Amino acid sequence: MLIKHVKNSEVKPSEITSKSIFLNRRKFLQTAAIAGGISLLPKVITSSCASTRTKFLNVKTTSFAEVEKLTTYEGLSSYNNFYEFGTGKTDPARNAHTLKPEPWAIEISGLATKIGKFHLDDLIKPHQLEERIYRLRCVEAWSMVIPWVGIPLVDIIKRFEPNSKAKFVAFETLVDKEQMPGQKSRSLDWPYVEGLRMDEAINPLTLLAVGVYGERMPNQNGAPIRLVVPWKYGFKSIKSIVKISFVEKEPPTTWNIQAPSEYGFYSNVNPNIDHPRWSQKRERRITGEGGLSAIFMPKIETQFMNGYADEVAELYKGMDLKKFF
Ligand code: MTE
Repeated sequence: MLIKHVKNSEVKPSEITSKSIFLNRRKFLQTAAIAGGISLLPKVITSSCASTRTKFLNVKTTSFAEVEKLTTYEGLSSYNNFYEFGTGKTDPARNAHTLKPEPWAIEISGLATKIGKFHLDDLIKPHQLEERIYRLRCVEAWSMVIPWVGIPLVDIIKRFEPNSKAKFVAFETLVDKEQMPGQKSRSLDWPYVEGLRMDEAINPLTLLAVGVYGERMPNQNGAPIRLVVPWKYGFKSIKSIVKISFVEKEPPTTWNIQAPSEYGFYSNVNPNIDHPRWSQKRERRITGEGGLSAIFMPKIETQFMNGYADEVAELYKGMDLKKFF
């Protein structure tokens, strides 16, 4: 077992980028990269918010960028699904302050050469972090465009050398009723669990995210580490992960356990297959501008595989997507 507690370094307030200069980020990032490495989870108090917010200083930019308008930080952190903090959309922002994302350990287990329990700082190093702008499309027909900070899941998977029997990757969220008071209710079976087929997990698009907008992940968005699978409905993006296992059989997934006729294992965004209770043809884009009234924004067309079909449609060649929904 390997749990190392890392002492965090302080970052000067002068080194923090304000939202207003975010659009100038490319230049900022170059400068920051020269400034050198910092711990993955340094503590910083920003002036714009009373709560603790942390800035990563050496995030690489990648070619995964969208030309669409970004959802504001306030928008993406105030309208959430995170049942561990309540079932209402604004519950997580109000309640997730009880989550302690530091220190954080993740157990890697199952069919691999290397397994064990690791401190997050040992699993992901700051120099590996990159920013990727991905759409997130919820099964409830709303979407956001978010600048995530993270590392490709494949980089972690390679390190642990899963063997040829490992056909799937299973994920689990923390269970702790004190930190996650929503778990006192039986709104879902705990822990929240999710899974990917191995070829989905090692696809270069699949991201383990530790932040948004160059900052540490807000608690309500799944601090300190969550999955982002941009071509799948948002519920595949499991939050506050404590366990990753390499397994032979398709693992159980929370929403499939909850309502198997409504949510399948694959959950690829597909405007041609309606949810039994509503259409998936369109979605409401939440920009965050104008606060939560933004949820009344006009709907836009939903794209097959959320617009990432060129990269991932090949994974499902020959599969009947009505059957494997
Ligand atoms: N992960 C956990 N542990 N618990 C949850 O309730 N909700 C899922 C997913 N991950 C959920 C979760 C759903 S339904 C969605 S749409 C996305 O998180 C929402 O992510 P966001 O709040 O960052 O937009």
